[in-house]
Amino acid sequence: MAKTVHIKTYGCQMNVYDSDRMADVLAPLGFRRVDRPDDADLVILNTCHIREKAAEKVYTELGSLKRLKSAREKTGRKMVLAVAGCVAQAEGEEMLARAPFVDIVLGPQTYHRLPRLIADAWRGEGARVETDFPPEAKFDHLPEVTATQGPSAFLTVQEGCDKFCTFCVVPYTRGAEFSRPVESVLAEARRLVALGAREITLLGQNVNNYHGAAPAGGEWRLGRLIGAIAEIEGISRIRYTTSYPADMDDALIAAHGAVPALMPFLHLPAQSGSDAVLRRMNRRHTADGYRRIVDRLRAARPDIRISSDFIVGFPGESDHDIEETLRLVREVGFIQAYSFKYSPRPGTPAATMEDQVPDPVKSERLARLQELLAAEQRAFNASCVGRVMPVLFDRAGRLAGQLIGRSPYMQPVHASVPEAMLGTLADVTITGSSATSLAGAISGLAPPVATMPAQAEAFS
Ligand code: 5AD
Ligand code: SF4
Repeated sequence: MAKTVHIKTYGCQMNVYDSDRMADVLAPLGFRRVDRPDDADLVILNTCHIREKAAEKVYTELGSLKRLKSAREKTGRKMVLAVAGCVAQAEGEEMLARAPFVDIVLGPQTYHRLPRLIADAWRGEGARVETDFPPEAKFDHLPEVTATQGPSAFLTVQEGCDKFCTFCVVPYTRGAEFSRPVESVLAEARRLVALGAREITLLGQNVNNYHGAAPAGGEWRLGRLIGAIAEIEGISRIRYTTSYPADMDDALIAAHGAVPALMPFLHLPAQSGSDAVLRRMNRRHTADGYRRIVDRLRAARPDIRISSDFIVGFPGESDHDIEETLRLVREVGFIQAYSFKYSPRPGTPAATMEDQVPDPVKSERLARLQELLAAEQRAFNASCVGRVMPVLFDRAGRLAGQLIGRSPYMQPVHASVPEAMLGTLADVTITGSSATSLAGAISGLAPPVATMPAQAEAFS
């Protein structure tokens, strides 16, 4: 019997990828994915635990799903409610105490067990919690990717984290670092391209520490993997996220200079510009160490631009420390960045550190940092006006006859172009800029593979 599933995704790109994979697992069981929970037989919340706000959103959503579920039950129909992702992993049984109407609680390492869990829930076997880190590798048990993600696709190559930054829940929710074997990554990349992807973003919590088993024995690190993916016929763009600064090895930096399809844009979280704070965060790099990595990247690929993540108000952060962060931001010049107030997470070392920073101080520091970051982003966007950039059109715009694509630097570019250009890469003359996006006009189709000289010229 045909059934429907609604999956709501919170948080990072890996959750977006995981939601697609859950849909792949469910498709053979007859589940069709729908956009709204109202008529869905199965609702999955794929949750994020990174900051308190993200985690709390889940309970708000569960409140309305509870009403939906009981209204449905009054008409004699069933709705199975599953909570997946990092909140599920972190809270496990506790989640059932707070939301007893939830049927399934499953962590990110157990998605391949969904069919059995759902079958049990359907039979009314009571709530089930699956939050262990099973000995079998999840990826060996997930079906092949079957649905297109469109012109721009995600591909998880590495999962988990062994770094234990003192503020972060990821090592507890996603578990130990694991890299998928090279062959399995390449096979998935080929399938994604066959399904219409022109751009692939390689995902991992610590993606630049990728070390997957190689076909002929030994291991490949990320630089070599990128080189092999670039050889797949039909691929135009490669990106990877998220990287840990200390793991930017020579081969990966060299790949930025050697692989034209590797986009000249890197998300490289710095978190802070103060060595004292970085030490207490257990980040294993200093502010100068970070500057040196950026210098090496720029030497390999002069037109590369960097984005970042920052946390303000980490325990013990002083006025001097935040000045150091602002100095790093001014010196490096980020074209985009996410910045957050430190949010104490239960079970992490920083949550119980002394000298927690009061919220009004965090707010004031965040406002200063964001003002500077926004000015840098606006200035970079403005500097693009008049240039010609390759744009991959990947979605419809809000206005009729308009498409939106991404520049090499991930800026959304709005242009009036025929709908038939969806999924194509074209040279666009940038005609306008705003705080977060660009406007452009078409000036001719680009060759299928981005070429170094065109991009190097654009930003020389
Ligand atoms: N508080 C605030 N921000 C956090 N991040 C991770 N943990 C926390 C926390 N406890 C931020 C980091 C990370 C990004 C994904 O989220 O900047 O790079
Ligand atoms: Fe969290 Fe640090 Fe691991 Fe990134 S490197 S996932 S911030 S522990």
